[in-house]
Amino acid sequence: MPTTPSHTGRVAVVTGAAGGFGTTISLELARRGADIIAVDLKAAEATVSAVHGIGRKGIALQADLADPEQVEAITGDMLGFAGHVDILVNNAGVFPFRDIWELDFAEWKRIQAINLDSQFLMAKAVMGSMRESSWGRIVNLASNSLGLAVPNMVPYMAAKGGVVGFTRALATDLAPHGITVNAICPTASSTPGGQDFIGDEVLHAVAEMQAIKRIGTATDIVGAVCFLSSDDCAFMTGQTIVADGGLMRV
Ligand SMILES: NC(=O)c1ccc[n+]([C@@H]2O[C@H](COP(=O)([O-])OP(=O)(O)OC[C@H]3O[C@@H](n4cnc5c(N)ncnc54)[C@H](O)[C@@H]3O)[C@@H](O)[C@H]2O)c1
Repeated sequence: MPTTPSHTGRVAVVTGAAGGFGTTISLELARRGADIIAVDLKAAEATVSAVHGIGRKGIALQADLADPEQVEAITGDMLGFAGHVDILVNNAGVFPFRDIWELDFAEWKRIQAINLDSQFLMAKAVMGSMRESSWGRIVNLASNSLGLAVPNMVPYMAAKGGVVGFTRALATDLAPHGITVNAICPTASSTPGGQDFIGDEVLHAVAEMQAIKRIGTATDIVGAVCFLSSDDCAFMTGQTIVADGGLMRV
């Protein structure tokens, strides 16, 4: 007898869904029965076409999620798409290497805004809908670089450290409403962002330091996202899962 896919009837917002982890996450959630709201600074129509190809509903919304006004502008469309939002995957991010001696305050603030403020703004936009149904799952993307001595990552690591703190604190405040909040730390991976920000040489060097010595891909974290956004994750919240080929040990 066929089993019902784990995410049937769920509506998931995935940020950074135009490419990289966000596309893979959107498609796997759709395969597991979810309808998808694909949000990105760039056009995410290709992701939504693929979601339709799987037989699920989807819409693409374009916004700079570091900007509160742009998040507010898409909130009506997110909540109106199916009348409810059940899952938020806060995945959008940038990971530029910056020399601390050159970094100015404007750039520091911009990197915080994209990687951390966006997660706060998106959670605020949809958590009221989760509270109405007494069920919600928020999954925030952090990074294994937090536990490593990686040079030139001060603003990024500060933001991702903030993501872990945000996850822990939000988990406590939303638990009474049936909403769990967890984070995932991927390793350096071969996404478009991984190629642009990290580059081939460092991707290979990081892979060599992992217990599992191959470069990470988006597929390597999607199982963790699916678990954390499912019914199976009802009693686990405020946690950070490291899905990085066994590099960082917590
Ligand atoms: N790939 C890696 O090596 C790696 C490692 C650890 C953690 N991460 C984290 O995983 C997440 C996804 O990474 P990825 O490798 O898929 O990156 P990616 O660059 O391939 O994709 C990120 C997506 O986010 C979107 N985005 C960027 N800024 C945005 C903004 N202001 N508003 C809306 N959308 C925006 C981009 O347009 C892009 O489509 C990020 O949070 C990143 O920090 C990635």
